Amino acid sequence: MAKMWAGRTSGQTSSVADDFNSSISFDSRMYAQDIRGSIAHARMLLKQGILEEGEVRQIIEGLEGILADIESGRLPFDPHAEDIHMFVEEELTKRIGSAGKRLHTARSRNDQVALDMRMYLRDETKGILALVLDLMDALLKQAKAGQDLVMPGYTHLQRAQPIVFSHHLMCYEMMLERDVGRLEDVLGRMDQCPIGSCALAGTTYDTDRAYEAGLLGFSAPCLNSLDGVSDRDFCLELLSALSILMMHLSRLSEEIILWSSWEFKFVELSDAFTTGSSIMPQKKNPDMAELCRGKTGRVYGHLMALLTTLKGLPLAYNKDMQEDKEGVFDAVDTVRMCLKVMAPMIATMTPLKENMRRAAQKGFINATDLADYLTRKGLPFREAYKLSGQLVTECIQRDTVLEELPLTAYQSYSPLFEEDVYRAISLDECVEKRISQGGTGPESVKSQIAHVEAFLARNRSGAASDE
Ligand code: ARG
Repeated sequence: MAKMWAGRTSGQTSSVADDFNSSISFDSRMYAQDIRGSIAHARMLLKQGILEEGEVRQIIEGLEGILADIESGRLPFDPHAEDIHMFVEEELTKRIGSAGKRLHTARSRNDQVALDMRMYLRDETKGILALVLDLMDALLKQAKAGQDLVMPGYTHLQRAQPIVFSHHLMCYEMMLERDVGRLEDVLGRMDQCPIGSCALAGTTYDTDRAYEAGLLGFSAPCLNSLDGVSDRDFCLELLSALSILMMHLSRLSEEIILWSSWEFKFVELSDAFTTGSSIMPQKKNPDMAELCRGKTGRVYGHLMALLTTLKGLPLAYNKDMQEDKEGVFDAVDTVRMCLKVMAPMIATMTPLKENMRRAAQKGFINATDLADYLTRKGLPFREAYKLSGQLVTECIQRDTVLEELPLTAYQSYSPLFEEDVYRAISLDECVEKRISQGGTGPESVKSQIAHVEAFLARNRSGAASDE
């Protein structure tokens, strides 16, 4: 079939070239944004006296009909169309005749694709933001319930110092709060409208780009027409923010996987979010968490792919840029799915208090507190540190723990030890004494929880979930 752009050439392309060139199979998902953009464009052309009222009425009615028919399934996408923009325009011309051909005055497909991507990703980013808040809710629920669950805190995956489960979970809240900030920044810089760049250089028509930008919910038009059509920073920024978010989800997933193992058994996942093995009847596998961890790689990959696609491109639009879509679409789909499964998986998991506590009792994680005890009694920290280390060795030799070592043994190392040492190194005391701001002590954990509660309340009132 001859192309709509036939003129300079016959428009008779080979079918293999058509297939190679076509993006409808993946850009059709932007149909609503494309149609909304076209309706705003027609309104602007009318306001500026570039098109007449009758024509614009026909265009808008035609476009609304196309939208309704796509949504009801009456109008399937033509797999032979070049892209969603051509599909909509060709369908409009089929339906209303010559007025349809006037719609493309003072704009280009390069503008349209840049506009549709911004509008589509703006909607997706808002949806993802709402899902991040859902995950924060789930973590908060567990954090509120877990304020007296003592567990080992780790460095190098070696038991280090006792902490409460809530403190550990609140660390993920801090990460997610920053993710929200990053996604909001992406939305902020995405908030410029490229339509009316007119392929690259602007137009001789007296258009009103600010009016059209306003109709489409943007604060302002892009200031430079070359930038309007060649900028894909918003895709890269979104992919970067999503990569960091996925890295956070992956770290959380990794911990859930560890915690669900028999080696830790700190949590029990709900049956609804685990799978069994086809051969080993005892298995309860944390597949959801493993998949979130696994899917992180593809999101990073999409960021790297698009950075590489863009790096050598001269201004302005180049067809290479059609390659922006599949990766960024897959990234938003992936992140959405991961968040959707993570939130209920976290909300329904059961922390196993006794196992956490038992693990915290082993591994001498109160050795720092023992050193602090001596320091408070006047010994310089370095000396206290050394003595505590020797006492740990003594315990290992006697196959016991610091809590069980007799006072006489303590006193053979230093006369500073008294009966109160046992209280000083008891797990609950170790946690409660960590009173510094941001530490695992009860006041700090409470204030972290209050902070996140207020953050969620503020953000929920600002942006309602689109789900
Ligand atoms: N389908 C193209 C894309 O996704 C947009 C069309 C612009 N193409 C062009 N040859 N001017 O980037």
